[in-house]
Amino acid sequence: MTEPREKAIQYAHNNAERFLDQLKEFASIPSISTDETSKPEIQRAAEWLATQLRELNLEHVEIFSTGGHPVVYGDWLRASTRAPTALVYGHYDVQPVDPIDLWISGPFTPTVRGDYIYARGVTDMKGQVMVVLDAFESALNTSQPPINFKFLFEGEEEIGSPHLSSFLQSHADMLTCDFAINPDTGAITPDIPCITYTLRGLAYMEIRIDGPDHDLHSGVFGGSVLNPAQALCELIAGMHDSQGRVTLPGFYDKVRPLEVSDRIELAHFPIGDKFYLDATGVPALYGEAGFTTIERLGGRPTLEVNGLISGFTGDGAKTVLPAWAKAKISARLVPDQTPEDVYQQMHAYLENHGNKAIHWTLTPMHGGPASVSNRNSVYIKALEKALETVWHKPPIFKREGGSVPVVLDFQRILGIETVNTGFSMLDDNMHSPNEKLHLPTWYRGIDAFIHYFFNLSEG
Ligand code: BES
Ligand code: MN
Repeated sequence: MTEPREKAIQYAHNNAERFLDQLKEFASIPSISTDETSKPEIQRAAEWLATQLRELNLEHVEIFSTGGHPVVYGDWLRASTRAPTALVYGHYDVQPVDPIDLWISGPFTPTVRGDYIYARGVTDMKGQVMVVLDAFESALNTSQPPINFKFLFEGEEEIGSPHLSSFLQSHADMLTCDFAINPDTGAITPDIPCITYTLRGLAYMEIRIDGPDHDLHSGVFGGSVLNPAQALCELIAGMHDSQGRVTLPGFYDKVRPLEVSDRIELAHFPIGDKFYLDATGVPALYGEAGFTTIERLGGRPTLEVNGLISGFTGDGAKTVLPAWAKAKISARLVPDQTPEDVYQQMHAYLENHGNKAIHWTLTPMHGGPASVSNRNSVYIKALEKALETVWHKPPIFKREGGSVPVVLDFQRILGIETVNTGFSMLDDNMHSPNEKLHLPTWYRGIDAFIHYFFNLSEG
């Protein structure tokens, strides 16, 4: 007799095409969370997911309003009482699509070319959400899912999950579980499956410099006032020293140093500088002196300019001395920094260095601290085994440079550990034009999750 897990995997293979069609449907909804005009599309994506959950026989399926974009919930608790309960986390919102003219096919017209499907959100993370739902369906329709499930999908991850913490607090009973699964952290290359055990935190802010009370003729007034664009650039230039270190006062005070054992492990990481040179196309890498690229990405804090706006930016030339300049700046944090510390440090830096000839304003936007997850739990071991079964090699444990703030909230509010994994690749163009998902890896991911569920029930 065929084992339940074999039957489920067979089912997944037989339904491969339909799974892809469903992903296309999901990815064609432009659920851009930061864009106010996309609100109806966000709602449509939430409803699409709720419909999927209902079709999968889940109970208590509900779209919760949050004050921001809704949370979608549903559960399936019919496995044996000894089986663990997993809280599956995902987000159905996506990043904006600009610059739109660099897309080869429309960002919301999911298109398969070669081994990849292209569309905004396919890898970050609608495709990853579907991996778990497809694995669940495969078990449901062949025998029965071997563990209990609670699914929690939010629509605000890409804008810093502003309403999720309070939702977790007010729905803690509903969300009681043994551990969480977060498939939003990705792999490295198709042949290297990964489990992520640290994520950096984030402190996002906006700096605005105001000079003259209106745009000026740059000849008539140039020489009489400080140009806000220049003032902003000088401030930004001073935020790093010649060693690539961040100069905000106290920035490194609470940074937890990398242990020698961490550094030894990172030295054996399967990719290094060559990978980053090829993946980015830069003539040389850059960063904090004294650390390798992999150490800087996974274990050191950074400060980045995300955007700069000032003056005349259209085609042609206009001789103007702009009235204002604005920068969007974010810091990636490691334990034990907090976003609040960094906002204060930036404030102090601007007080120390802001020129008297302009006004500056600092607006904190969103953020969350870094997280470190237990990498030795039974929940991790079961995934390790599942990934090894499918890839025929053990997964790599990864320190992630990106952020998923809910992981820390799950620890603090629900008291649970999260298993972070996923099947996106570093070169998938997340948050960039031509976002893509490697389909052979995606299908392997579904197989791996089927194994994972069955391993969990046997653990
Ligand atoms: N999936 C990403 C985070 C990520 C990227 C994890 C690559 C692992 C590998 C997530 O959707 C994301 O982009 N998060 C934002 C969070 C922020 C807006 C709070 C990020 O990291 O910028
Ligand atoms: Mn993202």
